[in-house]
Amino acid sequence: MTAHSEMPKTEKTKTVHIKSYGCQMNVYDASRMGDVLAPLGYQAGDDMASADLVILNTCHIREKAAEKVYSELGRLRMEKDRRAGSDNPMVIAVGGCVAQAEGEEILRRAPYVDMVFGPQTYHRLPLMLRTLESGKRAVVDTEFPAEDKFDQLPDAGKVDGASAFLTVQEGCDKFCTFCVVPYTRGAEFSRPADPVLREARLLVGKGAREITLLGQNVNAYHGETPDGGEWTLGRLIRELADIDGLDRIRYITSYPAEVDEDLISAHRDVPELMPFLHLPVQAGSDKVLKAMNRRHTSGDYADVVRRLRDAQPDLALSSDFIVGFPGETDADFEQTMALVRDIGFVQAYSFKYSPRQGTPAADMDEQVPEKVMSARLAELQDELNRQQLAFNDHCVGQTMPVLFDRPGVRDGQLVGRSPFMQAVHCELPNAHLGEIVDVMIDKAKPNSLSSVPLVKPSTTDDHNIRGAVA
Ligand code: 5AD
Ligand code: SF4
Repeated sequence: MTAHSEMPKTEKTKTVHIKSYGCQMNVYDASRMGDVLAPLGYQAGDDMASADLVILNTCHIREKAAEKVYSELGRLRMEKDRRAGSDNPMVIAVGGCVAQAEGEEILRRAPYVDMVFGPQTYHRLPLMLRTLESGKRAVVDTEFPAEDKFDQLPDAGKVDGASAFLTVQEGCDKFCTFCVVPYTRGAEFSRPADPVLREARLLVGKGAREITLLGQNVNAYHGETPDGGEWTLGRLIRELADIDGLDRIRYITSYPAEVDEDLISAHRDVPELMPFLHLPVQAGSDKVLKAMNRRHTSGDYADVVRRLRDAQPDLALSSDFIVGFPGETDADFEQTMALVRDIGFVQAYSFKYSPRQGTPAADMDEQVPEKVMSARLAELQDELNRQQLAFNDHCVGQTMPVLFDRPGVRDGQLVGRSPFMQAVHCELPNAHLGEIVDVMIDKAKPNSLSSVPLVKPSTTDDHNIRGAVA
């Protein structure tokens, strides 16, 4: 997380430790929580046990998310008890999507928690802290407020590395039958174009060279402009690309049925838009996709991918898959495998279906037995891993520009991202942190590449890797 450098001298310095689970939007939210708390004297602290304020910024999407939060809270309780009555008591807060879904239930099961707030109310953290200080035992704020959270947030603080996140869209109206997001993040909302451009310029001014635009359905973006018009995501990307010093643009996560011509042509025309796209398909069987309430068939997905690849032949694809959705037969699963073989992915996330209370799929008949799900997941992951390694192998000998944004585990080594989101290691002095350096890939591993710097600089369009995984 980040913290303001201009700390008011009047307040005692306190530490806040924010532990984020789940998606990149939670990472972004955590950093904005830091911005909100900085004027109150809170600095980021690495040590959870000694922090004045601990925030668990939770995720509710899969598996036993809520249970994991309760067991983490159990551990924190011991620390809180130990410090009770001392001059540095611990305040425990639960934010994020589990907080939104569970609300008061968290206080019932963990009465030592002080604050519970959802993803739409963290701009009110100062108010919540004041309420606690005034003697209230605990605060729960899981509303979907009328005000725009982003209007209330202070400017983004320090940029952590050369790659920054920027939320442009939030919430989801798609109601896939397995998914809690429409209930925890709320209805689809796009930030107006002006504040997005302003925040992007600010991030670049603070050292960001790459910005990843975030949204649960980021390609549903339709941001108002001051003249009363509206920008699509494609248009927004074109405008962002004009910012001096912003060299790379990415966006995540997209919904296949809403990929429009504007976005496709941005992939053709905007060199700053990286040739990598995370486009979740979930399954290959049209029967399952229908039961999931996805608004696309497997054929629609293939068609969108074809149009995108026509526009940007280098485009590398990533996706999300769910195996064992209720009613999924062996034949349905085979269609997922066929789709994976046909499309070709350079990386992907795949999950066993996990029922989320309150979603339609949780009450569907024909839940798939655990053993069957495990076998299908293993088969799918084998194929996805094979494709990922094939793509990585194919990169050996290629030159590509890498944005080095963190030190490696070994001294003298930096790690960065290729245009295709692969982690790339290179022996480089620290002076190159935050720079885009042309490197030659010399080794491929399943999850990363290693490289040597090129003496002779090459251009950014050296990455012709189409069809590597087909
Ligand atoms: N069970 C399993 N996976 C899920 N996802 C969302 N909800 C569930 C669920 N109930 C997966 C989807 C989504 C990704 C973020 O998480 O694949 O795209
Ligand atoms: Fe969830 Fe579907 Fe919305 Fe994605 S599109 S956030 S999977 S409801």
